[in-house]
Amino acid sequence: MNKIKIYLSAIILLITCSVRADEGMWLLQLMQEQHSIDMMKKQGLKLDVLDLYNPNGVSLKDAVGIFGGGCTGEIISPEGLILTNHHCGYGFIQQHSSVEHDYLTDGFWATSKDKELPTPGLKFTFIERIEDITDLVNKKIADKEITETESLSREFWGKLAAELHNQSDLKEKKGISPQVLPFYAGNKFYIIYRKVYSDVRMVAAPPSSIGKFGGETDNWMWPRHTGDFSMFRIYADANGEPADYDASNTPLKTTKHLPISIKGINEGDYAMIMGFPGSTSRYLTVSEVKQRMEASNAPRIQIRGARQEVLKAAMNASDKTRIQYANKYAGSSNYWKNSIGMNKAIVDNNVLGTKTEQEAAFLKFAREQNNEAYQKVVDQIDQAITSTQPLTYQRTCLSEAFLMGIEFRTSHLLLDKMKEAIEEKNTAGIDSLKDSFQKVFDRIHNKDYDHEVDRQVAKTLFPLYAEMVPSSEHPAIYTVIAQEYKGDYNKFIDDMYDNSIMSNQENLDKFLKKPTVKALDNDLSAQYSKSTLDKFQELNKLMTPLQDELDILHKTYIRGLGDMKLPVPSYPDANFTLRLTYGNIKSYSPRDGVHYKYYTTAKGVLEKEDPTNREFNVPAKLKELIENADYGQYALPNGEMPLCFLTNNDITGGNSGSPVLNENGELIGCAFDGNWESLSGDINFDNNMQRCINLDIRYVLFILEKLGGCGHLINEMTIVQ
Ligand code: ARG
Repeated sequence: MNKIKIYLSAIILLITCSVRADEGMWLLQLMQEQHSIDMMKKQGLKLDVLDLYNPNGVSLKDAVGIFGGGCTGEIISPEGLILTNHHCGYGFIQQHSSVEHDYLTDGFWATSKDKELPTPGLKFTFIERIEDITDLVNKKIADKEITETESLSREFWGKLAAELHNQSDLKEKKGISPQVLPFYAGNKFYIIYRKVYSDVRMVAAPPSSIGKFGGETDNWMWPRHTGDFSMFRIYADANGEPADYDASNTPLKTTKHLPISIKGINEGDYAMIMGFPGSTSRYLTVSEVKQRMEASNAPRIQIRGARQEVLKAAMNASDKTRIQYANKYAGSSNYWKNSIGMNKAIVDNNVLGTKTEQEAAFLKFAREQNNEAYQKVVDQIDQAITSTQPLTYQRTCLSEAFLMGIEFRTSHLLLDKMKEAIEEKNTAGIDSLKDSFQKVFDRIHNKDYDHEVDRQVAKTLFPLYAEMVPSSEHPAIYTVIAQEYKGDYNKFIDDMYDNSIMSNQENLDKFLKKPTVKALDNDLSAQYSKSTLDKFQELNKLMTPLQDELDILHKTYIRGLGDMKLPVPSYPDANFTLRLTYGNIKSYSPRDGVHYKYYTTAKGVLEKEDPTNREFNVPAKLKELIENADYGQYALPNGEMPLCFLTNNDITGGNSGSPVLNENGELIGCAFDGNWESLSGDINFDNNMQRCINLDIRYVLFILEKLGGCGHLINEMTIVQ
């Protein structure tokens, strides 16, 4: 009897496990309709749908927002305190840093509100309202007001967003920014009204030896010991509305903040994450996955790798350069390593095999349905990809080398205007353009730019690009190099970096003193910039019709996949809109004979410590705290300090900083990374392998209190014990 019971429950467990949707970046507005809320409850969620998302009231979503331009942050006190990742705050921490105040190295702790640092350029964005406008868009297509292709263009989305905003009751409200976006490749459309706060101040950041512990070596890897968090605060005007920085602004009184649970976590516990995943491509064909590997990832790996070597050498040689290039280096390296891992994981996890099976199943379904469009669509995508492949490859090389790699460039448009003014003898025009020249110069030679470092980057990337791309496709400047410099890249680059108008202040002053058409015509930096831009536009012109065709084909393919899956609901690809993923705290086995525990502890920090390697330095104070096991109320029952943990939630870039919540909606962690073995996850989610790497909230509070001396911040929070 007992045996049967165990047997039965094992079967039930198996069934629930196999249907359990760890995969899925669900739309909050569809949780009811798609039954994801029922699945969540089955897994242990104690909240109701309206607690998570309430279009007419306050809910969890009001405590989550977009941090800066590409991360997620959450509100953890009634006074607008934001928690996000250290790597999300990184650029802003760097913005405040100099050799004298090196907050990247030493950390930053505002011990009172008046010490919180205004951070120009930093914004925090809430989601005010989401409306389904699919019928409206479809009607416009049916009425021939727009074509289907136009409905998939940014231009149309922007226009429609402005139009609808203008008619809405939100029109007069401060800080509202409307956004129209397609979902399911354009089978659905929503308008999202976002509310943008622009006075956000820096509150707390641990030293990089905590916040970025493990550096690039541990990035995208488990087991992990990175205290990847930082804190900021939203300030608002007297009415609590968004306002630009003003000394009189006060901390935003938030309608919703996340309570924080320090009760502890166990394997199998319910866990969900709300945030803004940037981009996934879960519905690609085999041909498109191959294109991603060969035309995007491979050239990116090669070009970034070469640039990063130059930057690393320069950063190691000088503290000033290290601070200047810290954010650029991390930004480049993050998706460089991701691209390496993705190409490897696509092979290791047999993604092409899975996709091939999916295509075969789809074809079978299409034949059964007698649906001609479905039957043809994959072949049509394959054909379009054959045409785009070389263009995509070239565009990746061009943008990685010249638009994102080498920084020194001078817009020819400004020079052309000056030329015109000189030719027309328009002295007033010339004078006002002089100001613009100085402004452009200051923008190029900003505090994080080193002309000599950039010159070395150019000397590496010019010849590398030439090797990678057929010479018939090179930008016109390569002809100049061949003819006038006998193909000597270094000679050309030195000439450009020494003798262009924007090369240095001396050259600029000399030019401004006596602006001549000849000097403008001879400017190498402008010639180079124009030639790369021309090439980019030429490629785009060739790509646009093919891309338009692909957009329509995807719309058909994804509609078909949706039809095939019914009644099982599916979720749309990530597009940096608010999503929810639910699952569990979970360990994994990356390969034969290896099992990874679901959490790490502070002990591991000392195991990894390496005083000779900057990435693995441990601050003396932290070492002392760990050696004395001085963890206060945050320790595990066995006296150890929890650090990071794993869940099987479905996240990607953009989710960085997202809240990890337990079954009561209490904060247990902050998501910050994915694991190496499943970097193919943006293309295909693998239930056994894909894990989300999170920072345990108890480690955040421990660092804040014991190392940062910021007990006052903890007092603001709602702690559940
Ligand atoms: N891989 C993380 C993400 O994309 C970023 C980690 C940043 N840390 C670093 N060492 N670069 O969210």
